[in-house]
Amino acid sequence: MKVVLFTKDPGELNTEALVVGLYEEMHKDDLGVYNVISEGLVGDLVNDKEFTGKFCKISMLRLKGKIKRLVLVGLGKEKEFNVNKARQVIAKVAVYLRDNSIKEFSLVLFEDLRPYNAAYCSVEAVKLALYNFNHFKTQGLEDLNKVEQFTLIANANNFMEIDEGIRDALIISDSVCYVRDLQNKPSNVVTPSYLANEAKRIARRNKLKCIVYDKNDIEKIGMGGMIAVSKGSGHEPKFIVLEYMGGKETICFVGKGVTFDSGGISIKPSAAMDEMKFDMSGGAVVLGLIEAAARLKLPYHLVGLIPTVENLPGGNAYKPGDIIKHYNGKTSEIINTDAEGRLILADALAYSKNFKPKAVIDFATLTGACVISLGDIFTGMFSTDDELAQKLTIAGEKTGEEVWRLPLHDKYKEYIKSNVADLKNCGPRDGGAITAAMFLKEFVDCKKWVHLDIAGTAWTTKSEPLNPVGGTGVGVRLAIQLLKYWETKSN
Ligand code: BES
Ligand code: MN
Ligand code: ZN
Repeated sequence: MKVVLFTKDPGELNTEALVVGLYEEMHKDDLGVYNVISEGLVGDLVNDKEFTGKFCKISMLRLKGKIKRLVLVGLGKEKEFNVNKARQVIAKVAVYLRDNSIKEFSLVLFEDLRPYNAAYCSVEAVKLALYNFNHFKTQGLEDLNKVEQFTLIANANNFMEIDEGIRDALIISDSVCYVRDLQNKPSNVVTPSYLANEAKRIARRNKLKCIVYDKNDIEKIGMGGMIAVSKGSGHEPKFIVLEYMGGKETICFVGKGVTFDSGGISIKPSAAMDEMKFDMSGGAVVLGLIEAAARLKLPYHLVGLIPTVENLPGGNAYKPGDIIKHYNGKTSEIINTDAEGRLILADALAYSKNFKPKAVIDFATLTGACVISLGDIFTGMFSTDDELAQKLTIAGEKTGEEVWRLPLHDKYKEYIKSNVADLKNCGPRDGGAITAAMFLKEFVDCKKWVHLDIAGTAWTTKSEPLNPVGGTGVGVRLAIQLLKYWETKSN
């Protein structure tokens, strides 16, 4: 889809559909212009209360002239309008127009948001809402509707800010869509070596550094968690290190890359087991956010660490009762082979120490218990640093990828004490998201650490305005927002 900025006289506009947002308050001077264009039709709609400006309500009028349709969309109450509402409303309109076979539409830039924000969130919303995944369909493709061009109509005075907003939105939404593609592709395609090759491709096209450790290397450096979990699978484990050197300050991003989680010997029930192809979402998010940060030239040294394996049962698979040794020398007793994510993350988190990072942030579809706690609305957050947790909370509110902090208290350590090793890999069912986080904490050697449990938010089974069914790419926009405003005290 092409994105165009139009700053000329509106009289010169040629478009299939002109989208105009209106508040419930219905300002007379706004209405006036569109009433003229529509030869009084807008006035009739409003007077008859057919269009009231109610949030996300859409009315489409067919016109005669260079503007073929006028699409009125309700912005709700003026006081309540913000960037998140703007994204929702634009996403709804984009899907509505696409489903009505409209291939090109234009939007009058919202005036009550800052020009950068208005442009940014419009482009982002259209791109995210119109994402689709048809890589594996061979039939019916010609019947799919596609929007080919999206035009933003704005005042030439703010050209620079608007242009920057569009540029940033394209980079970031490209990364989100890339992550969604990786998530949605099945596990017979996305294997650990597939993810490793993707990391190398990203490195090549952005001039980044990338090292991939294979099974031998992983064994040699003592990543016992990675070796154990991958033993049941024919696909060998890979440990990916992807580095973007854009500045001095180092931040490590760690992502769980389990390309399929059957549970292993402690096998999962078969209902919805197909969804476990999404268990590499954390790893995909790390790939996507590093590429976005590099393209945005953010001033940091970012290190992406992705332990990637497949968790299957088999004659050689690891078993309950096994004891393994991690990268930092700590040992863990396997109680349940389905608590595999923490075992590979333990190795990767311990490895992050080599970079002496200022902060470590991990993304993982780690626990079903997190989904029980927060549903699919909030990502679970655990942190050893109040300030970093606060920054992420704000980044969540700004992007709509909200996080909710859960306790990381030493009292829970009791739950993962083992009789025979330093730790056991799972405690009782109760407080499952917390015990998983407590387990990870044992392997982090950095004061500022955040663990984000994206089990509930990484994919969706019901279509939402900004997310069709499937992978959501959650985490990319959150992390980029955090990095962009890292130094600002009052964001
Ligand atoms: N990948 C799963 C967590 C998961 C489950 C994510 C459902 C999204 C939806 C993880 O590896 C897992 O199986 N966790 C277990 C841990 C338990 C055995 C301690 C869980 O949550 O049931
Ligand atoms: Mn599991
Ligand atoms: Zn898992």
